[in-house]
Amino acid sequence: MVSARLIKPTSRLRKSHESFITEFRRSGEELVPWVLDRVGKNFKDYITWLESASEGRNLPEGYVANSTFWLIDACDEIVAISNIRCDLSADLMKLGGHIGFGVRSSARRKGYGTEILRQSLVEARSLGIGDMRITCDKENLGSSRVIVRNGGQLDEEEYMAERGCIVQRYWIRR
Ligand SMILES: CC(C)(COP(=O)(O)OP(=O)(O)OC[C@H]1O[C@@H](n2cnc3c(N)ncnc32)[C@H](O)[C@@H]1OP(=O)(O)O)[C@@H](O)C(=O)NCCC(=O)NCCS
Repeated sequence: MVSARLIKPTSRLRKSHESFITEFRRSGEELVPWVLDRVGKNFKDYITWLESASEGRNLPEGYVANSTFWLIDACDEIVAISNIRCDLSADLMKLGGHIGFGVRSSARRKGYGTEILRQSLVEARSLGIGDMRITCDKENLGSSRVIVRNGGQLDEEEYMAERGCIVQRYWIRR
């Protein structure tokens, strides 16, 4: 198991967060989890917004309360980020699920994906979530592997036009 701990977002790690996003952008990938799209010019404002999002405030129409966590390594570098949704909307049941996560490109295939989901499941349980719905694109082998390694059982698959691919839906039972 890798050594890393899950923390709440803090403006102290602005530089590490910047490079996290830069690495995602450089590889041409969509930003995951979705909150990374909301970073603006003022990082402290972003941190404040994340806090309000966890209380269900200042969110776009139809969005549910969601909590963001950062996985940091021994060097205080953000290696992975997760976003936990307590109450699933019908849309999130189909796509998105309870937890989304992304790992810094340069830190992949070292176990951090597995680790952030493991620690995020612990957080989610403490937030009162029982069975966890987790989704991923079928072609995203790394993601499905991370989910299965954390006890995920494939529930269903469906082609979703908005993603242009087959989406897998898993349950991780309490
Ligand atoms: C998917 C993602 C989270 C995987 O993170 P990671 O840190 O590389 O995952 P791990 O190191 O814990 O790897 C877990 C397993 O998946 C495998 N794996 C990881 N990436 C893989 C890939 N691209 N292709 C095939 N297998 C892969 C690993 O070899 C490992 O296999 P093992 O169980 O046999 O040892 C990461 O690639 C990522 O952030 N991708 C972009 C965002 C995203 O897709 N998020 C998930 C959306 S739900």
